Amino acid sequence: MKRVITFGTFDLFHYGHLMILERAANLGDELFVGISSDKLNFAKKARYPIYTQMERIAIVKALKCVTEVFVEQSLELKREYLLKYNADILVMGDDWKGKFDEFKDIVEVVYLPRTPSISTTILIEKIQIKNM
Ligand code: CTP
Repeated sequence: MKRVITFGTFDLFHYGHLMILERAANLGDELFVGISSDKLNFAKKARYPIYTQMERIAIVKALKCVTEVFVEQSLELKREYLLKYNADILVMGDDWKGKFDEFKDIVEVVYLPRTPSISTTILIEKIQIKNM
């Protein structure tokens, strides 16, 4: 039984999010997703996500390819989460390439190519331009 784990905000859930989660799930038997808390996002980006963590969790949890979701409270707790969920493989988009190599002692680290031309930031910009 191979357990895959990944992390993200998954705000304004979009096609790129779906693709990385499906590809991550296909690397193992179970997929665990850490969703960054509203507080963590505020600390990192000085703004709250558009969707609350409750909404972001509900959306990701409803996906067929996802086994379980949990709240990522702090970026410093990655190693604890990997151990807690007994992960075999850590998957991240290649915008994070190299950033998680420190965990190679306990998991296989895989960086998957991002889906081109879509991101939460691009969606927010498009919506803002339309409403100007
Ligand atoms: N992701 C992806 N392809 C995209 C967008 C995101 O594979 N086009 C992946 C990221 O690499 C990450 C996960 O989806 O592993 C969650 O990304 P997140 O940061 O929540 O979404 P983004 O759309 O990248 O958000 P932002 O624009 O705020 O950075």
